Amino acid sequence: MKYLITGSAGFIGFHLAKELLKNKKNKIYGLDNLDNYYSTKLKKKRVNILKKQSNFKFLKLDLSNIKEIKKLYRIDVDILFHLAAQAGVRYTAINPSKYIKSNIVGYYNLLNYIKKSKVKYIFYASSSSIYGDNKKYPVNEKMEAKPKNIYAFSKVSNENCSKLFSKIFGKKFIGLRFFTVYGEWGRPDMLIYKYLNFARKKRLFYVNNFGKDYRDFTYVGDVISMLKLLVKKRSKFKDHDIFNICSNKPIETKKIIQLLLQSFPGKVKYVKANKIEMLKTHGNNKKILAFTKFKRISDFEEKFFACINWFKKNKNLFN
Ligand SMILES: NC(=O)c1ccc[n+]([C@@H]2O[C@H](COP(=O)([O-])OP(=O)(O)OC[C@H]3O[C@@H](n4cnc5c(N)ncnc54)[C@H](O)[C@@H]3O)[C@@H](O)[C@H]2O)c1
Repeated sequence: MKYLITGSAGFIGFHLAKELLKNKKNKIYGLDNLDNYYSTKLKKKRVNILKKQSNFKFLKLDLSNIKEIKKLYRIDVDILFHLAAQAGVRYTAINPSKYIKSNIVGYYNLLNYIKKSKVKYIFYASSSSIYGDNKKYPVNEKMEAKPKNIYAFSKVSNENCSKLFSKIFGKKFIGLRFFTVYGEWGRPDMLIYKYLNFARKKRLFYVNNFGKDYRDFTYVGDVISMLKLLVKKRSKFKDHDIFNICSNKPIETKKIIQLLLQSFPGKVKYVKANKIEMLKTHGNNKKILAFTKFKRISDFEEKFFACINWFKKNKNLFN
């Protein structure tokens, strides 16, 4: 099977490509613009690992540039995973236009390719952020979107676009609402590696909302298993479908900070909540578990320590 994975130099895209490359009958095209939102050294290292496989081809391309998209027209794939995006919530306060450019314009440009090519199944990344703050948890796929920041807004826009174009193009679009994905090779802007990198540099680490936020930490290995199972069951999709990709096991930030301080000492300061971050993410995962029959959600502490060990060996990849 032929796949195109956008954001293949990124955390989830890298893991997905690495897993799919194990089947030598698969051909994977990986696309990324290698932007410098976080360490390009880490992104390039991921790409170099993928390039060692003969069934992988890397395309350095910026989705927000319509001219560059045209280079894709020669490539035909069966399945597209659109994982490229400007990720992160805090950065929305620094560079909001980047979210419009990469996530909204970039996706719209990619739709030109989708329209012209033979690709039938489009799996695209959405986010738990679309839910905003709620009174009832866990949140399920039928609940209303209440974005609190421009990142969440860009993902709601992607979902709406996908619903519309699934009808117009007659192709299947499957939205993946990821909840705080963590694991080896993870993102330097997210809690675990951000803290570890600050501690390594002896920098003071600020903890939002006095550590009282909850996040539904979801191990990247579980995510990749779920994605593979979704591909297997692709004949069962409606035109447009959406899945929460989560553990349904929220953990308080304070608890993670305690674990981090015990394993890699550093300095933290608890500060009040800001307006853009969600107080809690906690997803209902009944739909994805019933659809894929995936059962074994990884043990958080076991995988957390795997992250610490991975960081100790790879800290040179962080800025
Ligand atoms: N990791 C999580 O916890 C999480 C949670 C919710 C949603 N998501 C979404 O899942 C997807 C993958 O997330 P990730 O954690 O792997 O993020 P990531 O930042 O590691 O990967 C995204 C990749 O997209 C690339 N990219 C950005 N703009 C681009 C553009 N204009 N053209 C081409 N490439 C571009 C980046 O260089 C990066 O390598 C993203 O869409 C993200 O918003 C992730």
